Amino acid sequence: MEQRHITLGEFIIKKQTDFAYSTGELSRLMNSIRLAAKIVSQKVNQAGLVDISGSFGKENIQGEDQQKLDVFANDVFIQTLINREIVCGIASEENDDFICIPGRDKSYSNKYVLLMDPLDGSSNIDVNVSVGTIFSIYHRISPIGTPVTKEDFLQKGVNQVAAGYVIYGSSTMLVYTTGKGLNGFTLDPALGTFFLSHPDMKIKEEGYIYSINEGNYIQFPQGVKDYIKYCQAEGDNRPYTARYIGSLVADIHRNMLKGGIYIYPGSANRPEGKLRLLYECNPFAFIIEQAGGKASDGFRRIMEIEPTELHQRIPFFCGSKKMVTDAEACMQNAK
Ligand code: AHG
Ligand code: MN
Ligand code: MN
Ligand code: MN
Repeated sequence: MEQRHITLGEFIIKKQTDFAYSTGELSRLMNSIRLAAKIVSQKVNQAGLVDISGSFGKENIQGEDQQKLDVFANDVFIQTLINREIVCGIASEENDDFICIPGRDKSYSNKYVLLMDPLDGSSNIDVNVSVGTIFSIYHRISPIGTPVTKEDFLQKGVNQVAAGYVIYGSSTMLVYTTGKGLNGFTLDPALGTFFLSHPDMKIKEEGYIYSINEGNYIQFPQGVKDYIKYCQAEGDNRPYTARYIGSLVADIHRNMLKGGIYIYPGSANRPEGKLRLLYECNPFAFIIEQAGGKASDGFRRIMEIEPTELHQRIPFFCGSKKMVTDAEACMQNAK
């Protein structure tokens, strides 16, 4: 079969043999994510026709106004995974604490935990702008046969077994890695099937796009201000051009395909930034490194940071390797 006809389902099965002693558990987990992504995609495409836009009327633990689609996507992913008894625990942006899933006969025998941002960029849904889902998968570290613990979720990003994102855009794409390269699949909505459309994705060493919310400029640390000035100056391949959607998934997906840097820095009023380490930054760090790029908090590799909290925030610099290295140099010089 030619590559362009490979479906995600076929690809998952083919890749199972990459891992010695595979039990198929990760494949079944990926298949559950594939199903949940299709359900959310269909709902996103109906926004404006069905009652899915606007606020749900509650705040999540981080004080954000939950949108109806945040709650819908969260329920779909959690229920799909619980019904298939495929993970032993889930942590989500929309849940205060992690969920423990006993599994078949309350045996606590499943070995993977999943962390997710079920709907990223949800404030964009009402204006027909791309949103996404981000997920990150780890082996539990607590013993099989016991309930999961917080430590199973507070692992460094380097321990990730798989990570990916779904972008609900002009088409729906699912992009994921199990640590052996990055592959992207596009949903054919007529067939309800994802096909391999972007095999072995790579990000350019240097791009020309910088993505940052410059509305917060006054609050930025000096190093970030210096880097923005550098992006705007004349020079090799410069000035760069600015693009900012306000959906992390969409901003990074564009930069992945075209080359660029995404920055959400710490700021004077918010030193730790906005993005969450466990289900936004770590999965994207794994994804971008698999594509040959780089992810940092301005000083340290994101995936080597020891997490302390489920909803911990961290400054985030992510994208083309040279651009992230240049931004880090500005941060270091301004210290
Ligand atoms: P979420 O919708 O999951 O809460 O994430 C929002 C994040 C991310 O999608 C985006 O890049 C960022 O918030 C935008 O923040 P600003 O509006 O502060 O630029
Ligand atoms: Mn949110
Ligand atoms: Mn998000
Ligand atoms: Mn979200």
